[in-house]
Amino acid sequence: MPRTLVKDALQATAAADSILLQGWVRTRRDAKAFSFLELNDGSCLKGIQVIADAALPNYATEIARAHTGASIEVQGRLVESKGSGQKWEVVATTITIVGEADATYPLQKKGHTLEFLREIAHLRPRSNLFGAVFRVRSRLAFAVHQFFQAKSFVYVHTPIITASDAEGAGDMFRVTTLDVGAPPKNEQGEVDSTKDFFGKKTFLTVSGQLEAEIFATALSNVYTFGPTFRAENSNTSRHAAEFWMIEPEMAFCDLDSDMALAEEFVKHLIRDAKEHCAADLEFFSKFVDKELMARLDFVLERPFQRCSYTEAIEILTKSGKTWEHPVTWGANLQAEHERFLTEDHFKCPVTVYNYPRAIKAFYMRKTDGCAPDRQTVAAMDLLVPGIGEIIGGSQREERLEQLREGLALHHLDEKPYWWYLDLRRYGTVPHAGFGLGFERMLMLVTGVSNIRDVIPFARTPGTAEF
Ligand code: 4AD
Ligand code: MG
Repeated sequence: MPRTLVKDALQATAAADSILLQGWVRTRRDAKAFSFLELNDGSCLKGIQVIADAALPNYATEIARAHTGASIEVQGRLVESKGSGQKWEVVATTITIVGEADATYPLQKKGHTLEFLREIAHLRPRSNLFGAVFRVRSRLAFAVHQFFQAKSFVYVHTPIITASDAEGAGDMFRVTTLDVGAPPKNEQGEVDSTKDFFGKKTFLTVSGQLEAEIFATALSNVYTFGPTFRAENSNTSRHAAEFWMIEPEMAFCDLDSDMALAEEFVKHLIRDAKEHCAADLEFFSKFVDKELMARLDFVLERPFQRCSYTEAIEILTKSGKTWEHPVTWGANLQAEHERFLTEDHFKCPVTVYNYPRAIKAFYMRKTDGCAPDRQTVAAMDLLVPGIGEIIGGSQREERLEQLREGLALHHLDEKPYWWYLDLRRYGTVPHAGFGLGFERMLMLVTGVSNIRDVIPFARTPGTAEF
């Protein structure tokens, strides 16, 4: 007999004489002549109620001893539930205990803190909260592809191991097969990277953007969706050392169209989650963040605000607030500034654009006609309430000379970027793109406030268990 998922059983349109369910016991309640088992298989938030009659042959020896956490297989009849709460329940004809769990099973009832659940990341997907988070994560990954495929974007797999620093920021994890205790040295006494696996220094990628640009300048509209790595030692609720990023890249595209796509994309993902993960979102709005649904609707209904970096500095300066990090033209916006703009000032998502050239990446397009001490680039950051930056993007510098100037300004050696410069030598075009942090998007959609709780296995400074 084929297995029926709990999700499908609960949505049945008619009773069934025979049905097979498999899953894990959430709770067991015993009455005189029978027990109620709540069976959950992760296919949806809800479990299904199973009635185990005391007349079942293994009732006393096994069923009445089945603990929370045990895996079971149930055959029985799907019947209309007399009790309240759900439409269907199962009257078991056989129950097999597949794998026992004893009273040490750590996921007993409710009331565990998120911190505790992080320590048992191998079991937390069996909890309501994390089942819901990871179902939404899966659905939204699918919605990412749907969004871009419907627009004829080509999905590109960019490398995870790379020799180039895409952001020029240097916070990269080194990849090496050299003996770290006794690496080969050259005549100058430095580690000899020519003896390393790839014959040069290599790293885990911080972004697939530069390679995506190669493909955009051939296939026009492309996107990447994969893991990226940052060795920045930021111990915040919004930073992970390994996170997933979606990076569209479009040829013949400017910053305006880039910002418009970013807004459409974020709204698409929210709409998709509301439509396809309604029960899970309802759970989050009950138990995680009471304002969630109102906030998601608010984000969907209004156009995002746009504001230049220079305007943002004026707003922050005039706010009369005292800042931990001083506000001056030329300084990067800190989380406190970003949150003020989106939460207090605009009270909605806001895209800040045209940042000072010196604080942004080398590849961003130099804005023409700026005063020399106010030189900006066509960069944009999308900020949302509660989180801050979820998207960073820009129009890329398509002019060879200006790009070389950008590299020099950031003290980057041109040599490893030879192929990137070639894209400007042969058939260069205005192009633009952005990166959406997938976990930050999930934080927005679920209301879960720590990035460690929207990624299956968090990698953060000092933590790489599982
Ligand atoms: O702003 P970032 O660094 O931009 C880039 O990497 C560009 N190459 C993107 C592009 O234009 N194609 O990162 C993009 C987004 C951020 O807005 C944020 O949402 C997320 O990636 N992000 C992180 N998420 C979790 N942990 C971290 N340490 C993150 N760093 C960036
Ligand atoms: Mg950024």
